[in-house]
Amino acid sequence: MEKIVALSKRRGFIFPSSEIYGGVGSTYDFGHYGVLLKGNVRGEWWRAMLSERDDIVALDSAILQHPRVWEASGHLTGFTDPMVDCRTCGRRFRADQLGELQCGRKPSKHPGEYEECSLTDARDFNLMFETTIGPVKESGATAYLRPETAQGIFINFKNVLQFSRKKPPFGIAQVGKSFRNEITPGNFIFRTREFEQMEMEFFVPPHDAERWFEYWLAERMRWYVELGIRPDHLRLRAHDPEELSHYSSATSDVEYLFPSTDSVGGARWSELEGIANRGDFDLTQHARHSGEKLDYFDQGSGERYVPHVIEPAAGADRATLAFLVDAYDEEVVAREGAGEGERRTVLRLHPRLAPVKVAVLPLVNRDAQPELAREVWRALRALVQAEYDDGGAIGRRYRRQDEIGTPYCVTIDHQSLDDRTVTVRDRDTLVQERLPIEGLPSELAARVAREWRSPKLGGES
Ligand code: GAP
Repeated sequence: MEKIVALSKRRGFIFPSSEIYGGVGSTYDFGHYGVLLKGNVRGEWWRAMLSERDDIVALDSAILQHPRVWEASGHLTGFTDPMVDCRTCGRRFRADQLGELQCGRKPSKHPGEYEECSLTDARDFNLMFETTIGPVKESGATAYLRPETAQGIFINFKNVLQFSRKKPPFGIAQVGKSFRNEITPGNFIFRTREFEQMEMEFFVPPHDAERWFEYWLAERMRWYVELGIRPDHLRLRAHDPEELSHYSSATSDVEYLFPSTDSVGGARWSELEGIANRGDFDLTQHARHSGEKLDYFDQGSGERYVPHVIEPAAGADRATLAFLVDAYDEEVVAREGAGEGERRTVLRLHPRLAPVKVAVLPLVNRDAQPELAREVWRALRALVQAEYDDGGAIGRRYRRQDEIGTPYCVTIDHQSLDDRTVTVRDRDTLVQERLPIEGLPSELAARVAREWRSPKLGGES
């Protein structure tokens, strides 16, 4: 994980937030390539939820909602983590993570030994961030930054039903920021207090809920694998009954084998996405608290019912981290242009996720090569995210593109000026082929969009 953190900063993916002021714990800013990468993760999620099917519609609800939303949803009373304080080291921990984190222990004077810590009893700590609506604090109403995007969907159920002409089974999807005052954030962007969720609430007839739950488990696993995550780094884990959230009758997590930055190190299975059967809990609660009818009348069967909800809830930041980690590779290759061995770092991102799809590089910065390269870049950027780079030795420019995961480098050389062909270098195989400039944008756009298997699985790139 240290390597990912270092590469993220060096190459402009992710920076620690407020760094010039010493940082604020576990908050991060996304740089240029991070914005593009996370944007592509979101884009692929929307593609799977909206473009490739016709039973889901989009929503973008407000972060600030009526405080009674959180009363009805159960978050005001139930969205808590058990917190303990250590009287020895003064730190705070989640009581349910103590064993796993080996926290609450600090090294004693003798190397390799720990002083046992002295923990307080666990007490419930509500994770919602409070704020005040209105210009004068005293007169303002207490409000909360949403801890999940899901409630914005439930409170719009009636609006969506009226305009969309959908009937169960159908879904409402939303991407946006959520906020949780986590007791122990950490492991880079894995757990932060401000994060982005990609959630979809799928409303189904009650008798069909289990079937749809199984369907979404398989669909969501497929999404990660198709975007290049190695299947042996992914698993589904069903929650034990005592782990279930207050609203859920069944939940399975998609887990990823994340490396760790904490003192224990190593890799451990951690939640990437939760898929829950929320039953009719949310619609029933909001109907009760708001007085609105939140049910569905099926004219075919003459039956009125409260739909049950299957919810795949993913984290955009956590997914971005998993894609980064899984793509990271180091290898020794022949130095391009020289031949002797050189170590390179390469992000083997799925081309659809790669922040930049094509880099256009004049071999030398003279002899009309930059002008032709800019012409090629202009044609390419109309179809794919393309970057022009004429700074420094060609080998170093290739390495830079490898480190941000650019699948193709187009090089304009002396021959290009004569016959309008270029070399196209493949990030994974390092093979260079000569292609005509004419038709290049559509050819490369097609390659980016097509089926892809990670070269680590032995597939072609
Ligand atoms: N609406 C259900 C819900 O919010 P969750 O399992 O608490 O369920 C869903 O959150 C996903 O949101 C998680 O699987 C994770 O990817 C992401 N997530 C939750 N808390 C997070 C945090 N503190 N930092 C980063 N991502 C988080």
